[in-house]
Order: sequence, then structure tokens, then C-alpha cells
Amino acid sequence: MNLPEKLVIATGNYNKYREFEYIIKKIVGHDIKTKIIFAPEISKLTIDETGSTYAENAILKAEAWSKKINLPCLADDSGLEVEILNGAPGLYSARIVEGDDDKKIKWLLENLNNKNNRNAKFVAVLALKIPGEKIILSEGTCKGKINKYPAGNNGFGYDPVFIPEGFNLTFAQMDFKSKNLISHRAEAFKNLIKLP
Ligand code: IMP
Repeated sequence: MNLPEKLVIATGNYNKYREFEYIIKKIVGHDIKTKIIFAPEISKLTIDETGSTYAENAILKAEAWSKKINLPCLADDSGLEVEILNGAPGLYSARIVEGDDDKKIKWLLENLNNKNNRNAKFVAVLALKIPGEKIILSEGTCKGKINKYPAGNNGFGYDPVFIPEGFNLTFAQMDFKSKNLISHRAEAFKNLIKLP
């Protein structure tokens, strides 16, 4: 598919915006003509993530933003799924416990205390809403393991404890480019751009 002239990254999370900007330029090419915009630079919007799937939440965000600003909007809903916790925190990754990222990582490490199976995956579902057109969805995953302790200062969220498959560094120890070549968001964007 061809990207529109302007594309709003429909998120309040500046880290996600920076990642998408890099991923899109890297995948589509650095001579990309599309102007990539961080939604809060144009308008303000708070959305309750009331969906029961990543897709429902991504659709909620893309539709609400595109209705408000009448521009093509790309939203994502994402989460970390841990095998031995039956996929938790999953959809609730951002709000599994109150507080900052350190508190969420603490919750995760406590729940995995003494557990040998540390398999996990990040999942991202993207929703692209171009005004007047049907919404388009895509999904990407990144498999890995949960480290026994936090390591590294880059990235956001659970990055300090997530070691992607084939590496022995956490996402937070990897540089920005390396994470964003293999992340769940990169995979989801590759799948989106492949669509007709
Ligand atoms: P939401 O998509 O805004 O509901 O938030 C997803 C949550 O999943 C984030 O707040 C993070 O806690 C976690 N998450 C999603 N993607 C990443 C990532 O690339 N690195 C670390 N944590 C992530």
C-alpha cells in the first residue's frame, strides 16, 4: 500500500512516536514523502482503552483521532505476553499495577520469581484510519525471554527485562536502531505496508 501525504501517529506516548518515525523511514525508505506527525502536536485527546482485544483498542484510538483531526491516523495497541503467566500482563501491560514502569517491572519479576520458563513475546496491533476509507489492521510479534533483573537505560516500558530471541541483551541495552529493526511494531508495520 502507498502511504498518504500526511500520517499522524495517534498516540500520546512520545517513545512510540519516535519508534514509528524511525521504522517507517527505515522500511519505506529515507526519501519517504509522507510527513509523520506526533498527534499531541496537533490536538489533545484522551481515550479510554475499553476494548477486549488489542485490535479493538487500536481501532478505538485510530478512529477517535482521525475523527478529531480529519487526517490519516496510525494507532497501535501493544503488550507483553508471558507464557507461564497465561499471557499476562498482555492487554493490561500499561496498567497491570498503578505507578511507573519500575513498578510494572517489579510486578513482573515477582510473578516470575523461581520460574524457569521465562518465555514471552511482545505483540503490537496497528490500525490505520484514512478518513472516508475502511480501517486497515496488521499485527506483529517479537519473541524473547524475561531477564532475571532489569538491565539497560534505553527504550521504555518493559524494555529493561525483555531479551529478544537471538540476542543476549535486553531491548533497553540495545541501541535504538537495533531494537527498531526487529520489534513487534517494526514487524506489524512491515505487515501493514505489504497489504494491497
Ligand atoms: P498501550 O499500547 O498504550 O496500551 O501500552 C502498551 C504497554 O505495553 C506499554 O505501556 C508498555 O508497558 C508495554 N509495551 C508495549 N510496547 C513496548 C515496547 O516496545 N517496549 C516495552 N514495553 C512495551
